Amino acid sequence: MIRLAVIERVRQETDIVELIGSYVSLKKAGRHYRGLCPFHAERSPSFYVSPERQAYHCFGCGAGGTAISFVMAFEKLDFPEAVRFLAKRLGIKVDEETNGGRNQPLYDTCEKAARFYEQMLGKSTEAQRYIEKRGLGKATIQRFRIGYAPCGNSLRGNLQKLGLNEQLLVNVGLVIRRDEGLIDYFRDRIMFPIFSISGKVIGFGGRVLDDSEPKYLNSPDTPIFHKGENLYGIFQAKAYIRDRVPILVEGNFDLLSLVNHGFNNCLAPLGTALTQEQANLIRRYNRQVILCYDGDEAGLKACRRSIAVLLRVGVDPQIVILPSGEDPDSFVQKAGREGFLSRLSEGMDFVQFVIRGRSLSSVAERRRVINELSELVGLIADGVSRELYAEQIAKIFNVRAQLILNGSAVPQRGGTRTGLPATELVLAERLLGAAVRDQKLASIAKRFYLSEAIDNGMLKGIAHLVERYCEVDSYTPSLLIDVADDEVIRGKITQWLFTEDVLPSAEEFREQLCRFRARWLQRQIELAYQQGEIERAEILSQEKDRILRDNKTVVEKGGDRNGQERCAG
Ligand code: GTP
Ligand code: MN
Repeated sequence: MIRLAVIERVRQETDIVELIGSYVSLKKAGRHYRGLCPFHAERSPSFYVSPERQAYHCFGCGAGGTAISFVMAFEKLDFPEAVRFLAKRLGIKVDEETNGGRNQPLYDTCEKAARFYEQMLGKSTEAQRYIEKRGLGKATIQRFRIGYAPCGNSLRGNLQKLGLNEQLLVNVGLVIRRDEGLIDYFRDRIMFPIFSISGKVIGFGGRVLDDSEPKYLNSPDTPIFHKGENLYGIFQAKAYIRDRVPILVEGNFDLLSLVNHGFNNCLAPLGTALTQEQANLIRRYNRQVILCYDGDEAGLKACRRSIAVLLRVGVDPQIVILPSGEDPDSFVQKAGREGFLSRLSEGMDFVQFVIRGRSLSSVAERRRVINELSELVGLIADGVSRELYAEQIAKIFNVRAQLILNGSAVPQRGGTRTGLPATELVLAERLLGAAVRDQKLASIAKRFYLSEAIDNGMLKGIAHLVERYCEVDSYTPSLLIDVADDEVIRGKITQWLFTEDVLPSAEEFREQLCRFRARWLQRQIELAYQQGEIERAEILSQEKDRILRDNKTVVEKGGDRNGQERCAG
């Protein structure tokens, strides 16, 4: 971990205009600088950099951030890498706290093992024959550094010769303890190194050469490898997936086979269901993704789950369904590049995917489908996309779009979604935008639990940040941007920074906030009564009365409200 003081220095000493100006030609325009956005193709400049606010924002594509996030996005680095990059430019020495440096031996160990497995592939005709049978070419093998783990304890037994350390091998999961002592984890398997975004080997997947079980083994989670946060193929794909929509497949071999057919924009989760972190990783590069899962029941199910995860983080999925019994690997081998391309062009959006194959003749079934769809629509953070999808769905079922947008209009058993009415959403955004820009307003927002009354995913996320950081001395919008770790949130905050709205006074702000909360409480009260939660309704009523009676005093939250979410990070 880089010391906070270093991050703060980098933040303060980097001149954002000079930095971005070294990538993009910028012209002075009033108090800002303007140029062509490097993150999307445009002819007239809508990309603004503000020296005053040390931030940039594109009014065309919504990208935005600070110097650090610019380097992250443009150089495709993670946060610490970007800080290091900027520190180097400034001549600031980044002496790492124990952590980053301490992991170096683990990276070195994985690298040595990867090299060893690559060499072993060269020596095993059986392994080579297997890979050849699966159709992978030399270029793909080299690019993905595919290898072979021989039988027996090839690592554990050759420590000295390989320059490896036993304890480090244990720490990266390549050697494990068994009753008989320390033994190699991967034996007689085709080895797929797993790379970090910056190309370091951080773990491995290993596949058997026949149909024995388990078919795949993956490295366990280690200090440098977290399955749920990495995607297979990200390092090789990252240069392609900004311009081309990434294709997400289930299996390592699916990915390799597609790469082998010239599809460089492929990613695969590491044998787990797609996680939110993985979806976020995709979103750093592209707001869209193509899901191309196996053409069986399990594949369709995984697709459904992934759609929700993706929508929640702001990635719009297109779904490509393969013929039953095929996976991307088998399909591309049969149909070839052209066949796969034409399949890709038959992709559908999530609405079509959910409706597909459902009989919509009965009201009950139509209602179930509408419920499912409005639940998914409710996950979409971007207001415009949410409304467009709601309209699309409304047209199909000949209902009002508002019905889809208000999850509450379609009561769900078990679930208690209450969509923020559109006007309230606008107000929520205005309040939050003010809180982001002013620390005093931020503390007021925290006192009145602004985040609780916002159920739009992205805005809620920003409200959480505001509440978490509003008491920090160095509270500024750019601090929020840097801690956000979320491209959509960064874009939103910088958008606020570049709009010249006058901030309300603390008094006005508190009043607006109180009324906003009172209306939210009213909706919660109605909902609680509907659901027979009388006690909860009454506690909420008391809070509402208190707020309305005197919206100038600090309102204490009522007692225990079961089922209510707590402000969590
Ligand atoms: P083949 O085409 O059979 O070589 O494999 P595949 O890459 O198409 O994989 P498949 O679709 O069968 O499975 C998808 C992914 O799930 C694999 O790439 C692995 O990451 C993971 N996986 C599959 N089988 C196992 C297993 O037995 N154990 C573990 N841990 N992961 C597995
Ligand atoms: Mn397969």
